[in-house]
This record gives sequence, C-alpha cells and structure tokens, in this order.
Amino acid sequence: MARVSSNWWKWNHTKTVLLLWLISATVFYTLFKMALRNADHSSSSDSSVSYAEQRSKLYDNMARDLDEHGALFLKGGETSQSLSISDIFTIKDGSVAPVLKAANPPVRANVLYLGTEYSQPISEAVRQIFNPYFDKAIWFQNSSLYHFSMFHASHHIVPVPATENEKEVEANAVSMVAKELCPLRIVLDRVVLTSTGVLLGCWQVISGPDPVTIRSKLRTALPHAPEKQLYDAAILHTSFARLLGRPKASTMELRKSDEIQFFHELVARLNNQLHGFKAVVSELWYVEEYDVLALALNGRMKAHRFQHGCKKT
Ligand SMILES: *[C@@H]1O[C@H](CO)[C@@H](O)[C@H](O)[C@H]1NC(C)=O
Repeated sequence: MARVSSNWWKWNHTKTVLLLWLISATVFYTLFKMALRNADHSSSSDSSVSYAEQRSKLYDNMARDLDEHGALFLKGGETSQSLSISDIFTIKDGSVAPVLKAANPPVRANVLYLGTEYSQPISEAVRQIFNPYFDKAIWFQNSSLYHFSMFHASHHIVPVPATENEKEVEANAVSMVAKELCPLRIVLDRVVLTSTGVLLGCWQVISGPDPVTIRSKLRTALPHAPEKQLYDAAILHTSFARLLGRPKASTMELRKSDEIQFFHELVARLNNQLHGFKAVVSELWYVEEYDVLALALNGRMKAHRFQHGCKKT
C-alpha cells in the first residue's frame, strides 16, 4: 500500500514538473517571437514614438513660454509670423476687427483642415471660458477655418512668386500628395497660451501619417518652396484665439504677477474640458492667401480642397 502511494506520488510529481516546464517553454517561446516581431517593426514604430516625443517636448517648451517671456501681448506683442498685434487688429463699432493687408505676392499655404463637427465644440468651449473676461480684447478664430499649418510654397519672409500656371502645377502636386495620405486620427494633447497671446491647441497623432512625413512629401512635391519653413516639422497645432489685451478691469484688480496666474487658470480650465478630445482629419488644402494671415483673420483667399485618398503608391 505504502509503495503504491509512493509510486503514485512520484508519477504525479513528474507530471507536474513536465507541465510546468511545458508552460514555461510556451511562455518563453511566445515572448521570444514577440521580441522578434518587435525588432522587425522597430524602425517604423521607433520613429513615430520619437516624433510623438519631439512634439511633447515642443509643447512643454511652448507652455513655458508665457512664464519665461511674460504676457508680451499686453505690450503690443508679435504673432508667430512677426507681426505686431496692434498692426493687425482695430476696434471698429465697438468690436474687434482685423486690419487686412494685401499679401504681395500672395502667401501659398498648405494646411490640414479640421471639420466643423470637431471645431465647433472646441470653439464653443473657448468662447465660454474666455469671453466673460476679455469682452473686446480677444479675437476668435473662425470655427469654419480651423486648420493645421503644414508647409508653405511661399511665405512672407521668403516670397516665391508664381504664375497662374505654376500655381496650377503646385495645386496638382498637392492633390497627388493628398491622394496618398490616409486620414489622421488625432487627440488634443494640451492647450497653451503663448507669450504673444495666441491660444493654441497642440495635438498628438493616434494613427495615420505623421506631420513629419506629410511635410516631407509636400517638400518633395513643391521643389521651389522656401528652404526655411515657419514651423517645427513635428508640430501639429491649430490656433483657437488671440488675446489682444488685459482681462476686464472690473473682473478683478490684478497685479502683474497675478495676471499671468489668471491666464494659467483660464488655460487650465480649457485644458480640463478639451484634453483628450479626438478628431479625424482627412482634407489637405492648398490655399492662396491674398491678405496677410487670411486664414486666421477671415481675409481674402482661394482654397483648393483635396480629400485624403489613402491610396497605395
Ligand atoms: C467664417 O468662415 C466662413 C467660411 O470661409 C465664412 O463663410 C464666414 O463668413 C466666416 N465668418 C466670419 C464671421 O467672418
């Protein structure tokens, strides 16, 4: 009886060891295969991870800008395109109006377009939070024209004049780029207020082509474009509003240091509402801007709109 149970125990023990060994081997083999697969894909996934990191660092720096440089827009600051705020806005009939100036030659911008199904809820949140404090000292981006600036065929710093024919060739080349692009699924990472008073949405890419790739395709398609472009190759941002002056005095008596703190609080409130907001982008525009900053200021422009085709080449 004792021998039987001892043998039985031995056999059971062996079975257990075998089973454990088999499980470990399977787990090891699976992990090993996953590691191999990752190594295969590492070149592409590595770069998209690093583009995302590049954007995060850029956005961190942009968020620090207000603390580092102060609220320059209260002293008649400059925009991202080196134009003084006081040069581009005026108060007309008690409300803010842009001062439109002809762009000579017209600027030719390539932008990704954000549809109104996404821009309108964002625009409403921005107005709701900022309007009560900046009654006339704020300009809201037209929610029908929310866009991500990608690449300029000609800008005001390095103008590249073009004939009607040359513009047609350019528009056509951009349409070919759009045909290849798949839609971008994106998420709003954070809202920042720059020292120049521009309220920006800073986005990350969930899936689809990276802005770095899109800009590089546009550069190839537009060989006469200025070598030096206006923005970092990784950035994906859209402008929501421009602050033009102090918050209403009646709101509170603000000391200089409190003022910056107050701006941070408003931005934090907007971030609470908009952080994580998702959108899909599937239109590339080639825009001739006849007025300086026409896309931002409702100026005169001609937009050629191209749907992303997501076609393999
Ligand atoms: C906003 O843009 C749309 C499309 O270009 C235009 O029809 C509309 O008049 C603009 N709104 C304002 C207030 O300028």
